[in-house]
Amino acid sequence: MNDENTVLRVEDLRVQIETDTATLDILHGVSFDIKRGETLGIVGESGCGKSMTALAIMRLAQKNVKVSGKIELCGESLLDMDMKQFRAIRGNRMSMIFQEPMTSLNPVFTVGHQLMEVFRLHQGLNKKEARAKAIEALRMVNVPMPEKRVDCYPFELSGGLRQRVMIATALACRPELLIADEPTTALDVTIQAQVLDLMCKLRDELGTAIAFITHDLGVVSELCTRTIVLYCGDIMEQGTTEDLFTKPLHPYTEGLKASLPERGDRGRLQTIPGAVPSALDFPKGCVFAPRCPYATERCAQAKPPLYDMGNGHTVRCFRYEEVSK
Ligand SMILES: Nc1ncnc2c1ncn2[C@@H]1O[C@H](COP(=O)(O)OP(=O)(O)OP(=O)(O)O)[C@@H](O)[C@H]1O
Ligand SMILES: [Mg+2]
Repeated sequence: MNDENTVLRVEDLRVQIETDTATLDILHGVSFDIKRGETLGIVGESGCGKSMTALAIMRLAQKNVKVSGKIELCGESLLDMDMKQFRAIRGNRMSMIFQEPMTSLNPVFTVGHQLMEVFRLHQGLNKKEARAKAIEALRMVNVPMPEKRVDCYPFELSGGLRQRVMIATALACRPELLIADEPTTALDVTIQAQVLDLMCKLRDELGTAIAFITHDLGVVSELCTRTIVLYCGDIMEQGTTEDLFTKPLHPYTEGLKASLPERGDRGRLQTIPGAVPSALDFPKGCVFAPRCPYATERCAQAKPPLYDMGNGHTVRCFRYEEVSK
């Protein structure tokens, strides 16, 4: 199934972390793909493996993290490349934006310097050309007075502007793939809406494939054509965002949806009982069974496979027929 529109293909992605005392299985064989111009939502509660998925793809995980499986960018295997080859791709054909811009912007250089580096490194431009491109990139993300802001240090800018600079840096080389890990969580609501608009605009202009990681199902329903629901390092459900929201088949998706505030309905907000287990003791059987209102003895014993519902909709639950009733 090698579709020429497929930008990112992740197959059976596994991540293990070696600690002093144990080997933790963080991701257990995650598979998905993202097509050109498509935004895929990756959702799930804190600790379910969203950031680890992103870091594994970007090869930014720490040394004690073992990544296996297949990750392909436009058909090229990323895990088989040496770091030198990979660095020519990262920040160029694929890039990432983080929750907190200060983690990826260097505080000791001006934003212009950091943007210019991208153009000099990946496009071989000289200083003057790179500076002109940097100003253009800031203008593209609606930074006011880009000719002035280009000489600012990150700390001289507001959180919203820093986030725009990070987006400008990530998109500078018109990447085929952008991974956004909670890109707007730290921003206030108005700025958040502006940043999301901007990402959509750039996606539509450049055809960038986006993986959008978030807790916020409201944002997912606006932004993402397809969504995967992660829990304890496994995909619980995957499908079009519309299918997932209108007819969730996994009790976990149903629970996440019930905890989404609807207009005028704040009083009846439900949360999923219990907490995400630690990677040290994931339940055997279905990982969600201890918190699941539908669980039976079978769920506690055996891990459900992914059932294919057609239309790209898959669900990892023995009881999906009950959920859909
Ligand atoms: N360096 C590490 N050492 C041990 N465990 C780790 C390490 N980094 C992450 N983990 C574990 O890996 C799991 C997945 O973490 P990850 O950061 O991917 O979660 P997340 O879904 O991004 O959560 P959040 O929504 O809070 O950002 C968690 O159980 C976490 O405790
Ligand atoms: Mg995270």
